[in-house]
Amino acid sequence: MREAVAALEAGQLVGMPTETVYGLAADATNGEAVARIYAAKGRPSFNPLIAHVADLEAAERLVQFDPVSRRLAEAFWPGPLTLVLPKRAEAGVSDLATAGLDTLAVRMPSHPAAHALLKAFGRPVAAPSANRSGHVSATTAAHVVADLGSAVSIVLDAGPSHVGVESTIVAATPTGLALLRAGGLPRDKIEAVAGMSLDIVDLADPEAPTAPGQLASHYAPGAMVRLDVGTVLPGEALLAFGHSLPPGADKAAVTINLSPRGDLIEAAARLFSALRELDGKAATIAVAPIPTTGLGEAIVDRLRRAAAPRP
Ligand code: TXA
Ligand code: MG
Repeated sequence: MREAVAALEAGQLVGMPTETVYGLAADATNGEAVARIYAAKGRPSFNPLIAHVADLEAAERLVQFDPVSRRLAEAFWPGPLTLVLPKRAEAGVSDLATAGLDTLAVRMPSHPAAHALLKAFGRPVAAPSANRSGHVSATTAAHVVADLGSAVSIVLDAGPSHVGVESTIVAATPTGLALLRAGGLPRDKIEAVAGMSLDIVDLADPEAPTAPGQLASHYAPGAMVRLDVGTVLPGEALLAFGHSLPPGADKAAVTINLSPRGDLIEAAARLFSALRELDGKAATIAVAPIPTTGLGEAIVDRLRRAAAPRP
């Protein structure tokens, strides 16, 4: 932990475990350190980053909370919720981290190792998911090392991330709240606390304030992905869900079941490592139907991106 804090202070990159996925962490107030994140990820430069903090007081120094956002923070922090709010002029976060926006995405992770690192470091930490741009997100320290190698000074290995998908991103808008990314915190829970429904950002509208995490092939594995399959074709890799397998499953080259007992929380926790494991074992990954309730919305959202045509 001491070495990781020293690396952040020196403007280097640290693999930071969080409850959602591993983050590629850098001092958010240090522009060069943030630039190293983009270099390591090969990420488009307009993609803004999330500032991670240890507590609500630290978040309040960065952004302006309205009453509803404050209620969400008090209900769900620490945890897998990111709030996009007006950035304070005195926040001190590098413009590169926000891609020049006057809003800032803030999150307080619940993972004890992340909390300890953020507390000891004492400054906001910018951290995208610790994968190369366009690859699936890293949910173990080994994924981080495999994807980013020597770009990272040190990776804190705290075992697999238990949520397994990124945080849900909610933005305050002039008319209410918008869901920018489905994620580890289900939408209905947020709506219950907010007392209003979330606007879903219309991806077809080029003017819409989309999260670039919604870019079509963001989560694409190398293999082709076929969604919602009726029949598995011989030689395909099968990503299954639930106790009944689709016809042709016996002819699959390899099968991973996200959750034999049909538990979406278990399925979410296994999604990215399953995609990584199936990728390279067959030209095509056939995905069995997955319900879109609760965390299923985030899982299917990720899989749709993986299935989208590649640029
Ligand atoms: O669970 C997570 O959120 C993980 C862990 C490491 O905390 N982090 C993560 O960061 O997923 P990243 O950079 O992979 O995704 C952040 C998303 C991007 O799609 C980015 O465009 C969006 O947040 N975002 C960041 N700041 C924004 C802003 N000011 N307005 C709109 N979207 C923003
Ligand atoms: Mg990411």
